[in-house]
Amino acid sequence: MHEPTPESTAQVSTGTMPGPETVVELITQAHRSYADVTDGSVADYIPALAVASPDLFGIAAVGVNGRTAGVGDSEHAFTIQSVAKPFQFALVCEALGHREVRERIGVNATGLPFDSVMAVEIASDGLTNPMVNAGAIATTSLAPGRTAELKWRFLRDGLSRLAGRELEVDEEALASERATNGRNEAMARLLEGHGRMYFDPDETTDVYTRQGALLVTASTLALMGATLADGGVNPITQRRVVSEDTCRRTLALMLTAGLYELSGDWLYEVGLPAKSGVSGGIITVAPGKGGLATFAPPLDAAGNSVRGQLATKMLSRGLGLDLLASSPVAESTD
Ligand code: DON
Repeated sequence: MHEPTPESTAQVSTGTMPGPETVVELITQAHRSYADVTDGSVADYIPALAVASPDLFGIAAVGVNGRTAGVGDSEHAFTIQSVAKPFQFALVCEALGHREVRERIGVNATGLPFDSVMAVEIASDGLTNPMVNAGAIATTSLAPGRTAELKWRFLRDGLSRLAGRELEVDEEALASERATNGRNEAMARLLEGHGRMYFDPDETTDVYTRQGALLVTASTLALMGATLADGGVNPITQRRVVSEDTCRRTLALMLTAGLYELSGDWLYEVGLPAKSGVSGGIITVAPGKGGLATFAPPLDAAGNSVRGQLATKMLSRGLGLDLLASSPVAESTD
């Protein structure tokens, strides 16, 4: 990773997001600092993703007070992909209760790539984690509703409430993903073999895939993140979507597995719960303060946006969001 800021400019948590001028200044600075980074490659395992421009780069921030700031391609629409996973988990956790989802899906990091089939095999009880494909497919199968259509409606409506607007499916991306979905379909069958699939595996995989094809922007994702930062109340619509306890549990999963097998590196550098997706989105949550989202399609080998990681690292420090940072009280109160 590039070193984004000199250590002397690092801030520790102040309990609130800095004022709007500082947020705009810092996200603009982060955008400028990394706009020319060309490392990473655009996901090509789904044809519809492979055509994304590698130059796209947007950053957005939404505070728990509803203040929104965006720079670059922050209004460019892309498919949500895996960034839906924490929000889907939150909705299902809210409906079923945190004990049941832990018992039936699992909450420990697999330490393996997001599409790992082996992760299901290694766990003797078939339990994985809702932040990777296998666990997210199991989570989809637990969504309330007797039919696939009802499960889909539950998830789309819930995700739309988190986003504060009706989310639409990118039909072209969906068709492309459905045509190349063998790995996820196989995983659903394998989960079924382990007694960890709670609805028809093919129909479940299709609902899971539809969810990943919902269109968002970095601004939308920042607001969804701000909802998790705001104890489950959307700061713009002021509607409660999930409980405070559900938010906390969702953020715990994002901390331990949001960037897949690189989640330890992420925590070490950034100190905040986050979730990435193969379209190039990363959502980061500063509890009690707000949500940040970046969008830049080129990914590292684990499937995490390269420029998104760099910009978020810079912003975590610059905005004083890092949950793990502190400085001695004696020095600051003198
Ligand atoms: O299941 C898939 O393959 C995709 N729809 C989502 C995967 C994803 O975004 C993982 N991200 N790094």
